[in-house]
Amino acid sequence: MTMTHSAIWQALQTHRQTLSALHLRDLFAQDPQRFSRYSLQAGPLFLDYSKNLITDETLSLLVSLAQQRGLPKAVEAMFSGEKINRSEQRAVLHTALRNRSTQAVFVDNRDVMPDIRRVLAQMDQFSTAVRSGQWRGYSGKPIEDVVNIGIGGSDLGPAMVCAALAADCDGPRLHFVSNVDGAHLWSVLKNLNPEQTLFIVASKTFTTQETLLNAHSARHWFLQQAREEKFIARHFVALSTNRAGVVAFGIDPANMFEFWDWVGGRYSLWSAIGLPIALAVGMQRFESLLDGAYAMDQHFREAPLHANMPVLLGLLGVWYINFFQAQTQVILPYDQGLHRFVSYIQQLSMESTGKSVTNAGQPVDYATGSIVWGSPGTNGQHAYFQLLHQGTLLIPADFIAPIRPRHPFTAHHPVLLANFLAQTEALMTGKTAAQARAELQQQGHTPERIEALLPHKCFAGNRPSNTLLFDTLDPYTLGALIALYEHKTLVQSLIWDINAFDQWGVELGKQLARGIEKELLEAQWTLPHDASTQGLIQWIRARQS
Ligand code: F6P
Repeated sequence: MTMTHSAIWQALQTHRQTLSALHLRDLFAQDPQRFSRYSLQAGPLFLDYSKNLITDETLSLLVSLAQQRGLPKAVEAMFSGEKINRSEQRAVLHTALRNRSTQAVFVDNRDVMPDIRRVLAQMDQFSTAVRSGQWRGYSGKPIEDVVNIGIGGSDLGPAMVCAALAADCDGPRLHFVSNVDGAHLWSVLKNLNPEQTLFIVASKTFTTQETLLNAHSARHWFLQQAREEKFIARHFVALSTNRAGVVAFGIDPANMFEFWDWVGGRYSLWSAIGLPIALAVGMQRFESLLDGAYAMDQHFREAPLHANMPVLLGLLGVWYINFFQAQTQVILPYDQGLHRFVSYIQQLSMESTGKSVTNAGQPVDYATGSIVWGSPGTNGQHAYFQLLHQGTLLIPADFIAPIRPRHPFTAHHPVLLANFLAQTEALMTGKTAAQARAELQQQGHTPERIEALLPHKCFAGNRPSNTLLFDTLDPYTLGALIALYEHKTLVQSLIWDINAFDQWGVELGKQLARGIEKELLEAQWTLPHDASTQGLIQWIRARQS
């Protein structure tokens, strides 16, 4: 029997209909304890999920669904190194990278912890040498700028963390180049001195076209001034699982920081891919990031389903996607440091849950991943919040904020937090016709004008949101926050029985691009194309020649 025909799924569908008549305002009015009953603390994070379209019955049905889908067992399977990435026959062990206990973790009967600790020690040694100025460039000067060349998971995680921990950045300046558009590399390199620049070539596979092209161009730029190939060793390091690829590129394997095929690209910032973080903030703070993630791992593994933060977030997502047909989810960090967070979660969530067949390869008959979008508050309030408040779409929102800032302009923070709280309240309560009419009367409008304006001034409210609060955005808290969203993603994939750890959907475009590149450069046809693509290629060729 498919999931959608199961009794629990049907019960959720029936229950959802009964909620149509309810407003969140009424649910709060009926239950003075709603906030305390629907909130919880996990490590450094506090979650208020009371402003969701849920009752005790909703939660109990969702938890039953999770149980029936075998969630606890499947979570344990991941932590214990089972090959849950079935299409690639790989274990999924980003959690081992931040396993701060003495417990062994086995893949194919081999404990992976000694390797993990060896690479952490190598990162420690190297980042300390660079940060202290002991590691010198070819002309004897210390490194002042570090350029990370990578894309997707080899870029978004470290770039997001370095931005979020700006207050802790006391090492060399970090730059991130990802786009194959040469303008990206040029915008960074034009301001740098090759004598004092270190390049990190970050690629799990070491076959990614964009990264290799950017790395070759960076190498060429460097050698134009440094002249001698032997100097590459002081200025280029690699983060990869592909030793042969690294050597073929010309990077000394002694300058390679290894990770393993059981680390997914979008789950890799805890591995050697985190080297830019260690360089920017120091190894101690990088380890504190790991500690925070480990704390969330422990909570996820041990807390009962109904009091488990990633499980609740995952189930609420399923509730809106499958029972309210929500197609998007907005993430609103009220913390400028988290300005790369949404892009990071986009890859994490959309590459993981953008699937339409089950693990066994059967087409699903229910919606899976949704579109993740958003930006730091308060900017969005003056741009797209109008649609959140009065548009026709239901868009569940995650509001995220620290209660203490990490910058000197502390007088701004109450203003930021007031806006943060005001938005969640406005989305939930809305404004009734009676309230709007009273306001318009007070403003002295004529009765005709009041009636004309009234429909525009009412807010339906009843729009769901989660509120995530924490003390301040330090490495430990950030580690926990990222791990929370990783596990939320896993929970959803387990409910939907999809593989959150492969990404075959990105392959076709890559294959076609290789052929089209030849066709553009060599003016020959290598692939059969549809008429539109063929016409476009000819149009470009004609104007380039
Ligand atoms: O094309 C998608 C992808 O494979 C992502 O999953 C990955 O994070 C990114 O490309 C970069 O891959 P790599 O680290 O192997 O260069």
